[in-house]
Amino acid sequence: MSGRIPESLLEDILSRVDIVEIISGYIPLKKAGRNFKANCPFHHEKTPSFTVSPERQIYHCFGCGESGNAFRFLMRHERMEFPEAVEILAKKAGITLPEQDKPEIARAVSLSTQIYRVNELAVNFYENNLAASGATAWRDYLLNRGIKLQTIKEFHLGLATSGWDGLINYLRSKGISISLMEKAGLILPKDSGGYYDRFRNRIIFPIFDVRSRVIGFGARVMDKTLPKYINSPETPVYIKGKNLFGLNLSKDYIRDNDFVVIVEGYLDFMIPYQEGLNNVVASQGTALTLEQIRLLKRYTHNVVMIYDGDTAGEVATLRSLDMLIEEGIQVKIVPLSKGLDPDVLVRREGIDVLKAKIKDAKNLFDYKLEILKSRHNIKEAHGKSKIASEMLSTINKFDNAILRGEYVKRLSEEIKISEHYIIEELNKLKPSSMEPRNETVRPGKISTGINPAEKLLIKFMLEERDLIEKIMQELSPADFSDMRTAKIVSVMHDLFTQGKNIEPSILMNYLSEDDVSQLVCESMFMPELAGQDREKAVNDCIARIKVQRLKSQREHLHIQIKSAQSLGDEQKLNSLIKEFHNLIKKGD
Ligand code: UTP
Ligand code: MN
Repeated sequence: MSGRIPESLLEDILSRVDIVEIISGYIPLKKAGRNFKANCPFHHEKTPSFTVSPERQIYHCFGCGESGNAFRFLMRHERMEFPEAVEILAKKAGITLPEQDKPEIARAVSLSTQIYRVNELAVNFYENNLAASGATAWRDYLLNRGIKLQTIKEFHLGLATSGWDGLINYLRSKGISISLMEKAGLILPKDSGGYYDRFRNRIIFPIFDVRSRVIGFGARVMDKTLPKYINSPETPVYIKGKNLFGLNLSKDYIRDNDFVVIVEGYLDFMIPYQEGLNNVVASQGTALTLEQIRLLKRYTHNVVMIYDGDTAGEVATLRSLDMLIEEGIQVKIVPLSKGLDPDVLVRREGIDVLKAKIKDAKNLFDYKLEILKSRHNIKEAHGKSKIASEMLSTINKFDNAILRGEYVKRLSEEIKISEHYIIEELNKLKPSSMEPRNETVRPGKISTGINPAEKLLIKFMLEERDLIEKIMQELSPADFSDMRTAKIVSVMHDLFTQGKNIEPSILMNYLSEDDVSQLVCESMFMPELAGQDREKAVNDCIARIKVQRLKSQREHLHIQIKSAQSLGDEQKLNSLIKEFHNLIKKGD
């Protein structure tokens, strides 16, 4: 987060301001024991779960997981960039930034921040193009597709005209370097030297992240030219599998309705959204990734997928939906007939027809079974076996034994095979995931899937400096199974050895990724333990992490052994098996 601003300066600032005073300048805080509480300003709620700790100088919301120090609060609440938040708090703290630190602060603006700014400028440029008098045909195209003027504004739709360097010239006039334009994915190098605009002759759909920053663009032709859409390449701020189109606009609606409708295309988002179906996101035509699913889990655990006729039937698509079940999400499906998508459906038949279809959505089990029945002969042994094996891969993903039992029973009735054979097949399947199944996942937590022992240890180390040494004798950062907890521990250990302050609000200045520094706060707010309990808890946590490490080493070896086996690599196999035996001895 901090770029080049010296951490000592940040620490100085934080030590002279009070987070309670700062936050209460924006929202009313109420004293509750040692902490202060409020309704969270970052998500809709009726009972306060937003907590501020004056001792630790951090805040954390138990509802949505948002947390941080005073800098972070200003950045989130006031949509400031980091250097700006530093300047404001420095002023409040009565610290005049030395002149030589000011350019330092300006330079500290990270590449990501610079890309957001360039993208923002590009949005302005494209929007102006679309509003220009020469762009009537393009505006008519959008209006004819049922997009209202107000929607064009709300989504900041724009136009890339047919020239080769319109954007380049505009950005240059704003003092943007060619290299930055390229890093933002807005321009491409010519073979003959020089650069040209990536998007030409297309309608521009800016893509925003959850915090409403412009991270990339989609661009559509108006005619039948192919490809129909081109999109920004991946950049430091646009990582495709991490974002969902429209979530910035729909997240509160998703939380309020406690379900999300997932559609494929930009227009499939915009038209229903415009007509009043607001709890939507668009997957931009690709299969959902685990990261996208986890992002959604901050808002709801219920998903309705709408597919057009072609994709819906694909067994591969169905299988990718199993991932949702594995993540503890309830999935339902609305199949549309071939060639129909939500955009077309709403324009032809109205939003209420789409809403009714969503209400009638089928659960994944029924839906998948129906498709499989249409493909295989359920009366014949091979057909039964095909259907069963596809269905079992879904059933196996349910964490809940009762649900598994229920679905086994239903499958048995459908294919008319005794449950006992089905269970026998189910048992042959490997546990569905290498990760330990997490029983305590609750909505709205960023830490989904992290072993609580890891978070507790972080809390202990932050509260009691001396524990760092003890714990680091037993464990290394790499023993922490999650990359985020590993990062925190390693930074903490470095600071400790350098004799530096590691209070949570300060430690966060050294952690550049939002979700990592949020995890620090989340750990700090784990339930308190005292005295004897505490020492025991520390030892328990260490032991649990060791067990987990051994387990994952074993699993890893197991996979390697299997692959050596199938390759017939005797030598490798022998050495792996030896290693495996050593590991098992260690575990006893
Ligand atoms: P579709 O082909 O279903 O297009 O792609 P669409 O969204 O219905 O678009 P219209 O209605 O013809 O304007 C679904 C989504 O897949 C991505 C886009 O995000 C699109 O919205 N896509 C599709 C691409 O990225 N590139 C393409 O060439 C096509
Ligand atoms: Mn469409």
